[in-house]
Amino acid sequence: VSVYSDAKTASVAVANRIAKLIKAKQARGEKTVLGLATGATPVAVYGELVRRHKEEGLSFKNVITFNLDEYYPMKPTAAQSYVTFMYENLFSHIDIDKNNVHIPDGTLDADEVVAFCVEYERKIEELGGLDLQILGIGRTGHIGFNEPGSAPNSGTRMVTLDDLTRRDAARDFGGKADVPTKAITMGIGTIFKAREIILMAWSKKKAQIIKKAVEGEISGEVPATYLQLSDNVEFVLDVEAASDL
Ligand code: GLP
Repeated sequence: VSVYSDAKTASVAVANRIAKLIKAKQARGEKTVLGLATGATPVAVYGELVRRHKEEGLSFKNVITFNLDEYYPMKPTAAQSYVTFMYENLFSHIDIDKNNVHIPDGTLDADEVVAFCVEYERKIEELGGLDLQILGIGRTGHIGFNEPGSAPNSGTRMVTLDDLTRRDAARDFGGKADVPTKAITMGIGTIFKAREIILMAWSKKKAQIIKKAVEGEISGEVPATYLQLSDNVEFVLDVEAASDL
């Protein structure tokens, strides 16, 4: 667990680690495979990476990304889609090859989803796995959209969203009724295979769930508690999110 005075300082530290990883791999002629997250939490990390690209020439030409999740169904052009989020906050402002961007497809027919998820996992494996996975945490203790009840070895799949998660998303959709009931998410097992995992949380609002995730009994009731079983996880917190530890 690393605790920073505020979210901005912590975000810059995480962005620095990502930049260092990209540069080190680039110097060896290797690609960096990043697992990315959405939500308010990583916005300042992406902002810092954009700044480093624009002001310091940090290049993303050798970076391949896989996003954790997407609502289902969801049109990529919708304001609430994670595709829109990722382009607005990161991809539109950096030199990443758009063919190297992967985000679960919210437009699939229901009978195409399983094959898509198997292929998503295969692509990650083919590239040698995720070098670094960035995570936020939902108030249910979800990582990605792995809600309570998710299995520790779960892979990419379609899931049903928890009521609390849909309530938290209501503001973005103009009411809970319009929040999709389903999503496609990488599994806990997919996340676990990453060589490094950074879970970030800011503000008092996250203090209770962070206490459970870091110190609570390991259980599918709080999926983030599974992270306690990995040696490669760092919880990056601001003082407020760490205040119940
Ligand atoms: C959504 C995302 C999660 C994210 C969570 C927390 O549910 N699928 O990946 O961690 O929201 O969001 P925020 O960072 O806005 O608190």
